[in-house]
Amino acid sequence: MHINPHLFMLARPPYLIVWDYNNHTQYELNLDYSTRLAQLIEEPEQFNSSNTIDCDFLAANILTLSKQNTVEWGWDELSKIFHIGTKNIPSEQTPNDVHEWSKQYLDHCNEVLAAPAPTAMRALRPTGDLIVLPSPSSSPASSLVRSLFSRKTCRSFNDDPVSLNDISTLLYLSLGHLKERESDSDNAIPEGLGARRSSPSGGGLNACEGFIYVRNVSALKPGLYCYHSDQHALSLVNPLPDEPLGQLLCGQHFINNLPFGLFITSRFDALWWKYEHSRAYRMAYVEAGHISQTFQLIATALGLNTWLTGALADDRVEALLGLQDSAEQPLFFVGCGQGDGQALCDELNALINRQEAR
Ligand SMILES: Cc1cc2nc3c(=O)[nH]c(=O)nc-3n(C[C@H](O)[C@H](O)[C@H](O)COP(=O)(O)O)c2cc1C
Repeated sequence: MHINPHLFMLARPPYLIVWDYNNHTQYELNLDYSTRLAQLIEEPEQFNSSNTIDCDFLAANILTLSKQNTVEWGWDELSKIFHIGTKNIPSEQTPNDVHEWSKQYLDHCNEVLAAPAPTAMRALRPTGDLIVLPSPSSSPASSLVRSLFSRKTCRSFNDDPVSLNDISTLLYLSLGHLKERESDSDNAIPEGLGARRSSPSGGGLNACEGFIYVRNVSALKPGLYCYHSDQHALSLVNPLPDEPLGQLLCGQHFINNLPFGLFITSRFDALWWKYEHSRAYRMAYVEAGHISQTFQLIATALGLNTWLTGALADDRVEALLGLQDSAEQPLFFVGCGQGDGQALCDELNALINRQEAR
């Protein structure tokens, strides 16, 4: 008999909460169950099939008949519990097409909007003696300002391909190791950590990496490719799967014809090497956010529409990127292509119009 290796226990008087963070299940244990669990943790061989508590533990997967494999995490327990505990979020029903997605999303919004929104924190801040700032220098003559004003999340793409030149520009300017900064170095930078990107990177580690999703890019076969930031080159990891992109992104099927996207991953082992504290886990997402925004601004400057999500079907995405059981994990997805710039897909718009007409 074995103890499930993914248990996290929390004191919530009068109970002990046992949370199986891999399978997203929780149990409240009273004193009898807690005491028995403590005994079995010390000696799992004490398992007794005529003891109801023991049988309940087995049925709940708190005890397992065979030893469960655990990932080679290589990092601290707190980040592991959070990362694994928020992966592969179970859904009662992942939408199978854009119509199902639109209905579920609209129902969800209606449910959320039925309760009042949280009071703005701003209302609690001091308001006396406002110092009015001068007008921002935001002349659209600057291309950065134009990109900032034009970037918008688009949820309606067409079937036009993205050019390989645009992909090259996007990848180099968002993730590539910039040749233009090679001379920008000082003696304090350790050997091997001198590469610099357009976005800042925690500890200069460039822990974020990228894998691209290619569905419709001229002169590039559809598939999932790994981007080599140091060589500005690609290598094929897997052909495109049979299931549409929306299935990999938690049922968001309005995105199925997106021509191109970037999965942003993080090398947790690299972060942990330099920063031996769970707090470094926060930095992984902050860095991914920088890269995501840079990608979107470049895409906007290239005249492309952009979309983004953190809703990944984690196990499936990891398998496609060849990152199963790896210390490198996918965190975020950002994509671009030609579209009509609409924030809502036609199917959701139609449902909203029907709801308003009632
Ligand atoms: C961290 C993060 C996660 C997001 N996830 C999703 C998502 O799963 N699906 C989606 O359609 N949009 C997603 N968005 C886009 C937001 O809905 C969008 O940015 C917001 O509505 C504001 O619109 P704008 O981007 O056009 O300014 C996400 C944005 C951020 C920053």
